[in-house]
Amino acid sequence: MASLPSHYTLPSGDRIPSVALGCWKASPGEVGLAVSAALKAGYRHIDGAYVYGNEEEVGKAIRKSGFRREELWLTSKLTNIFHAPEDVEAALDYSLGKLGTDYLDLYLIHWPIAFKKEGENVLDIELTANPYPTWKKLEEMVDKGKVRNIGISNFNIARIQNLTANPLKYQPAVNQVELSFWNPQPELLKWAKEHNLLLEAYSPLGSNNQVKETLSVPEVKTLAKELGITPAQVVISWAVQRGTVVLPKSVTPSRIQENLQVFKLPQGAFDKLEAAAAAHPPKRVVNPSERWELGFDLFDNDWPF
Ligand SMILES: NC(=O)c1ccc[n+]([C@@H]2O[C@H](COP(=O)([O-])OP(=O)(O)OC[C@H]3O[C@@H](n4cnc5c(N)ncnc54)[C@H](OP(=O)(O)O)[C@@H]3O)[C@@H](O)[C@H]2O)c1
Repeated sequence: MASLPSHYTLPSGDRIPSVALGCWKASPGEVGLAVSAALKAGYRHIDGAYVYGNEEEVGKAIRKSGFRREELWLTSKLTNIFHAPEDVEAALDYSLGKLGTDYLDLYLIHWPIAFKKEGENVLDIELTANPYPTWKKLEEMVDKGKVRNIGISNFNIARIQNLTANPLKYQPAVNQVELSFWNPQPELLKWAKEHNLLLEAYSPLGSNNQVKETLSVPEVKTLAKELGITPAQVVISWAVQRGTVVLPKSVTPSRIQENLQVFKLPQGAFDKLEAAAAAHPPKRVVNPSERWELGFDLFDNDWPF
């Protein structure tokens, strides 16, 4: 079968591997083994975050692997309570320290939501409405050499435009968002391509609560049979063929290996899958708006401020 791009080139000129190992919900004791298995299988891109609480174990597994730092692509994310410009560098340093490295390849604003440090989930309306001060500090981190690329996550078009309306020194290199059979977001994908913004597909298998359903979708199963690949490979290949980076998470060595094997789907098969994904109302698996008691849906275009 024909192959798909192994990398995409970012505005900085850096080449980001198209398939990464996701590290969310990979428990202590599991995540290090998963990273080791992934590096052995050929992954060079690890997607992590401060809030996953496992960067130290990820870092240990990376150091144990013996790979040179420049052979790997490491992503982390700035969490909501550290958006204040005076907190950004310390948050970054914390992740760098846990990972045991002196730079990240990519650092993302994890959510377009800023919380104050005091109290639980107390919205910082000013920094949420205008993320430019946070972004400026991230640009400074690029200039200091602590981060090679900066980006965003969970930003819809309105939030992106709200950020990019500012005089940015560096445009967001990627937007990491939920993209799956259940939530394919074709409009966002089209818009992002038109604006040279690479999307990264998180929860590509539907996350742990919907992975079974994803792999049982009749179109996915039929294509898998026809092409002689697994249902997970159909869905992951589709994500890369859509022009996105894909971040499947697994702590199971055989699945980790399986998920890295992506193949170019015949155009008819690709179109069928795209149509099937768009044929039902979109459904997210990840939306913390209620849990965070925001009082609005963070994915809506209209915010109360
Ligand atoms: N930016 C954000 O806000 C955000 C939000 C969500 C996720 N993410 C990123 O995206 C990554 C992936 O998303 P996700 O963790 O939600 O879910 P996912 O990758 O869609 O699904 C993970 C689930 O699928 C199972 N699985 C993996 N490969 C499989 C295979 N080949 N066959 C059968 N089952 C398989 C895993 O089980 P086992 O692990 O037990 O094998 C796990 O239960 C995260 O780890 C994180 O890095 C980012």
